[in-house]
Amino acid sequence: MRNEEMLLIPGPTPVVDSIYNAMASETRGHTDPRFVAIYKNAIEQTRTMLQTDGEVFVVAGSGTIAMEMALVNTVVAGEKILVISQGYFGDRFITLGQAFGIEVDVLQTEWGKQVDLADVEAKLAEGHYKAVTITHADTSTGVAADLDALIPIMKKHGALVILDGVCATAAMEENMSKTYGHPDYKIDIILTGSQKAIGVPPGLAIVAFNQTALAARKQIERVPAYYCDIYNWIPIMNDPSKYFATPPVNLIYAYNEGMRLVLEEGMSARITRHTAFGKAVRAALGEYGMTALADETVAASTLSCILYPDGVDDAAFRSALAKKGVIVAGALAHLAGKAFRIGHMGNTTEAMLEQAIELIGDTLNEIGHGVDVEKAVGRFKEEVILNV
Ligand SMILES: Cc1ncc(COP(=O)(O)O)c(C=O)c1O
Repeated sequence: MRNEEMLLIPGPTPVVDSIYNAMASETRGHTDPRFVAIYKNAIEQTRTMLQTDGEVFVVAGSGTIAMEMALVNTVVAGEKILVISQGYFGDRFITLGQAFGIEVDVLQTEWGKQVDLADVEAKLAEGHYKAVTITHADTSTGVAADLDALIPIMKKHGALVILDGVCATAAMEENMSKTYGHPDYKIDIILTGSQKAIGVPPGLAIVAFNQTALAARKQIERVPAYYCDIYNWIPIMNDPSKYFATPPVNLIYAYNEGMRLVLEEGMSARITRHTAFGKAVRAALGEYGMTALADETVAASTLSCILYPDGVDDAAFRSALAKKGVIVAGALAHLAGKAFRIGHMGNTTEAMLEQAIELIGDTLNEIGHGVDVEKAVGRFKEEVILNV
């Protein structure tokens, strides 16, 4: 890998050479048949990964555009949604919905905890919600949503399920043909970005709509958007030689290669690998007296939010670690200074994470917080073996 640093923030994540090489290919016109074939393949690969028979959109934008695209094409002003928020990114749907005049109800959890299913059941029983938003892995807390438990409740009440997979897609199970306790209970929309578990540089918004979500779009006469209106994109996604807005040609090259790597490894292997990495990183950091905010039973496999032991200064720790070439992120909101966030997803390898554990230990020793590096590295390796 040509990277000089280990980018272990919860996205963007490490990019491998074959993706860089693809991205550095000659820029062609967006209607050039050679590019069109690549774009078509990238869309097809997305469809395969998500197992959908609906429509897939791969467009320029970040995860936030993907969130907006999901919402404005299914819910109109005055209709009600329920936002299930297990952190900062769950909350983003509140302001996003309100910006479009959507009535937003929220179930917010204490950071680090999963939502209480009885609360979800009670809330949904209160009235008609057009859609419910779930953040699969909240990047602020490292908490995963329990889709197997949540989706049947939502579908029972007739709500569309909008899943934010920005920090989960391509690492955690997101299969749009999977049924959740009833043949009609499925995820209706998945949205994500290119820069996290897919392991491609930032800049692409990826959204998939199933037939139920497409039917919701059909009922809307005019969505309050132009770029985000899926009706402007469906013709392009089905025939990328057509034009609506210029696609980011080189990013599509990169994404096509990133998706090739995802499918080559296979979703089942990726889910196992990410689960093993998540467990191993948290267990190893535990040896340093660092605990994850999320309990192991609810922890996401893609990233962890790790609380510092007493006496470790966040800025001093992260900058000393960065000098050794390992970049981790600070925590958000009230956890700023009290925790850091480490990504373990996408193209991140076991060797990288093992080295990161070692360098984190070295850093702690350097800043006067004595730890046993060998023991933590040993624990990391053991946990990987146990879980792959
Ligand atoms: C879970 C989740 N949703 C949405 C977003 C927003 O994505 P973006 O920053 O690409 O707009 C992020 C960003 O980190 C995220 O982690």
